[in-house]
Amino acid sequence: MKNDLDNLQLKTIITEKEIQKRIKEIATALTDKFQKKSLVAVCVLKGSFIFFSDLIRQIDCDMTCEFIGLSSYQNHHQSSGEVKMTLDLNTAIEGKHVLLVEDIIDTGLTMNYLQEILQPRKPKSITTVTLLHKPDAKKVDCKIDQVGFKIPNDFVVGYGLDYQNYYRHLPYIARVENLN
Ligand code: IMP
Repeated sequence: MKNDLDNLQLKTIITEKEIQKRIKEIATALTDKFQKKSLVAVCVLKGSFIFFSDLIRQIDCDMTCEFIGLSSYQNHHQSSGEVKMTLDLNTAIEGKHVLLVEDIIDTGLTMNYLQEILQPRKPKSITTVTLLHKPDAKKVDCKIDQVGFKIPNDFVVGYGLDYQNYYRHLPYIARVENLN
C-alpha cells in the first residue's frame, strides 16, 4: 500500500453481520414492492458494486441489471460538488420500474443528479436505496426510499467505499479516524 495510506486509523462502525442482516430486511421490502413486476436494478459505480451484488441476490422478482458510473470525489475525501457521468446505462428505461442502488448519500448531489438525468427518460417509477445516509451532510434534496444505516458526518470506508480507491474490499464499514 502507498506510504501516505499506511498511517490511516480505521474504526469499525458497522460489522459484516449487521450489514448482511439489514440487507435481508431491505430485500424483503423490495421483494414485496416488486413482486410480479419487472425491475431494472441499477448499480451506481463504483462505490455500490458490493452492496448491489449482495442486495440483488436477495430480491425475488423478475430483474435485469444495469450499471451507471458517476464520480464526485476525484480521489479526495471532500466532495468536489461536481458530479460527472463516467458510464451511461446501455439500455432504455422508458416504461420500466427502476431501482437505483447507491452506496452512500452524503450531500445528496449525486442522487439528485441521477434522478434529474433519469426522469426525462420516462421510467414507470424510480425507487432509490442507499446502504448509508449522512443526514447532517445534506446540501440538496433527493428522494430516498430505503436507507440501510444513518451515520454521522464522518468519512467511512469499506464494503465498496474507498479512500483513494483503497479499502473497497473490506467486508465491514469503518470510520477513518485521522483525516484532516
Ligand atoms: P454525495 O453526492 O455528496 O451525496 O456523495 C455521493 C458519493 O460520494 C458516494 O457515492 C461516494 O462515492 C462518495 N462518498 C460520500 N461520502 C463518502 C465517505 O464517507 N466515504 C467514501 N466515499 C464517500
